Amino acid sequence: MIEDDIKEVYFSKEQLAGIVKKLGEQISRDYEGKNLMLVSILKGSVIFMADLMREITVPCNIDFMCVSSYGSETKPKGAVKIIKDLDINLEGKDLLLVEDILDSGRTLSCVCKILKTRNPASIRICTLLDKPDRREAMDIKADYSGALVPDEFVVGYGLDYDEKYRNLPYIGVLKPEIYNRPKNEE
Ligand code: IMP
Ligand code: MG
Repeated sequence: MIEDDIKEVYFSKEQLAGIVKKLGEQISRDYEGKNLMLVSILKGSVIFMADLMREITVPCNIDFMCVSSYGSETKPKGAVKIIKDLDINLEGKDLLLVEDILDSGRTLSCVCKILKTRNPASIRICTLLDKPDRREAMDIKADYSGALVPDEFVVGYGLDYDEKYRNLPYIGVLKPEIYNRPKNEE
């Protein structure tokens, strides 16, 4: 069972629902009369996106973008490669980038630079979780943030470790022996 690998639950299913509802209300107020387009950064934000869009009461478009940081595992580093680009024309759209977790900020810094060249009316960031202590890209801040987390590796509700644990309905901290375990023991 994947649950056996979790040391501690940080946000229960019910707490997450409350956090997402509050964000949806805030976004709905702020984007009244605007041209809202939610951009989910795959794959981590997929569950958050699905729940958040149902808490938003103003009209919106959605699209998906998949990027990969060249680094891997617990500390992503370096530039970003576009794996799947957006399909919708961004001209005049009020973009809201939907992220699972804002860590160094490098991913969103690169994504914002790319998307700015396509003439959207505005770009803002909505992240479920924020690790402000780890920020390296100083131009990046969350306009909407569900909760702050300390510098620990969290999984569940879309967030992965090595592509696993995305299907946990809550967010928890992995037992350190999981990520310290040599690959051939898995
Ligand atoms: P950044 O570019 O350093 O801000 O990295 C953001 C991405 O790193 C997130 O979208 C996640 O995919 C991944 N990430 C960062 N911290 C965690 C974590 O604690 N758990 C799972 N994924 C994480
Ligand atoms: Mg990830």
